[in-house]
Amino acid sequence: MYTEKVMDHFANPRNVGVLENPTVIAKIGDPDCGDFLVIFLRIENDRIADIKYKIHGCGAAIATSSIASEMVKGMPLDEVLRVTDQDIADALDGLPEEKMHCSNLAAGALHSAISRYREFLAQAAQKQAAEN
Ligand code: FES
Ligand code: FES
Repeated sequence: MYTEKVMDHFANPRNVGVLENPTVIAKIGDPDCGDFLVIFLRIENDRIADIKYKIHGCGAAIATSSIASEMVKGMPLDEVLRVTDQDIADALDGLPEEKMHCSNLAAGALHSAISRYREFLAQAAQKQAAEN
């Protein structure tokens, strides 16, 4: 029921682990099943310079996290925000319908990490403006 690409990324997930000194960390979970994904991003020049993650979930969640990490490495943040769960599933040559929601973990974690990063930047700028 899984494509060859899903099986490959599931058996051999890329970029798994923890980043030392990440710029931002985001954790996202599916409350229905308790599965979760934690991603660590290093952001440089408004791009993802490096990414690692820890995943607790099914084969589809592992494969989607793995391919998503490859897709977004080096990508400008604005582009990452446009990556959808469908794009991630497409990059794996598709997912079974009942597994589509698992790809939400990767897209959701990436989007939430970038929002947090941008909020943080905005706050820092405000704080600086207030101090000057
Ligand atoms: Fe829970 Fe896929 S991550 S079923
Ligand atoms: Fe929870 Fe698939 S059942 S992510």
